[in-house]
Amino acid sequence: MADFLSYAHIEAAASTVRERIHVQPRVGLILGSGLNPLADAIEESVAIPYADIPHFPRATVEGHVGRLVIGRLEGQPLIAMQGRAHYYEGYSMAEVTFPIRVMQVLGIEILIVTNAAGGLNPTWQVGDVMIITDHIALVCMMGANPLRGPNIDELGVRFPDMSEAYDAHLRALARQAALGAGVPVREGVYVGLAGPNFETPAEVRFLRLIGADAVGMSTVAEVIVARHGNTRVLGLSGISNVLPAEGAPTAKTSHIEVLESGKLLVPRLESVIRGVLRAL
Ligand code: HPA
Repeated sequence: MADFLSYAHIEAAASTVRERIHVQPRVGLILGSGLNPLADAIEESVAIPYADIPHFPRATVEGHVGRLVIGRLEGQPLIAMQGRAHYYEGYSMAEVTFPIRVMQVLGIEILIVTNAAGGLNPTWQVGDVMIITDHIALVCMMGANPLRGPNIDELGVRFPDMSEAYDAHLRALARQAALGAGVPVREGVYVGLAGPNFETPAEVRFLRLIGADAVGMSTVAEVIVARHGNTRVLGLSGISNVLPAEGAPTAKTSHIEVLESGKLLVPRLESVIRGVLRAL
């Protein structure tokens, strides 16, 4: 496991991708659990398995395909990650976020991150789309930070600002796109944990107290790296399960439930993403 990856590693991976593509991607899109079918909508696409790209982490979790799909969606040149690596799989944070670095070197200006997340607000419903307004990178705050180690000066500064991690203009475009498409939309704070276990009732209470609206096991490290490199970010959570209210009967959470919700979420996220891409 590599704790730190250098600019040379990133450039090696980027040049492998560059040799195979015919569009210059402007937007990067990460597809989370159960959301991989979204890449099927990409036109004029070229697919590159992660296994063909030097230093790229492989996605080992069910529901994650493990390839880059490069092409156009709503006319926008785009590079999509069909599946992502997670910290709980045993990758270092540098490895988990390596694909973001590669996309930055390939020239993306905007990163759209999607994930499946547990809803902490008990009035929310499975299938709701949450526009991420901000995050609490609990896993990174506790030390597992993707920027730990030598700073990659070519890409960003040692102490990057995070006061507007999620771009206000992109959020407004997402809101308009959701309203236009009749997609039930929420806005809120995403809290990122290491996983892989789901949360205890006491942990759910804690996460509500600290101001989180949705909980998941990805995204925050990717967004930190994106912002370090000055990439604008839009984050969309698909609410795959709703955590029980305090005092309500406990309910078990399962990965099957998370993947099942994808059927409801894929078309909704697709219309929001298409609307944003059209408006860019
Ligand atoms: N907790 C953590 N991660 C998740 C959840 C959850 O309830 N649902 C989807 N990802």
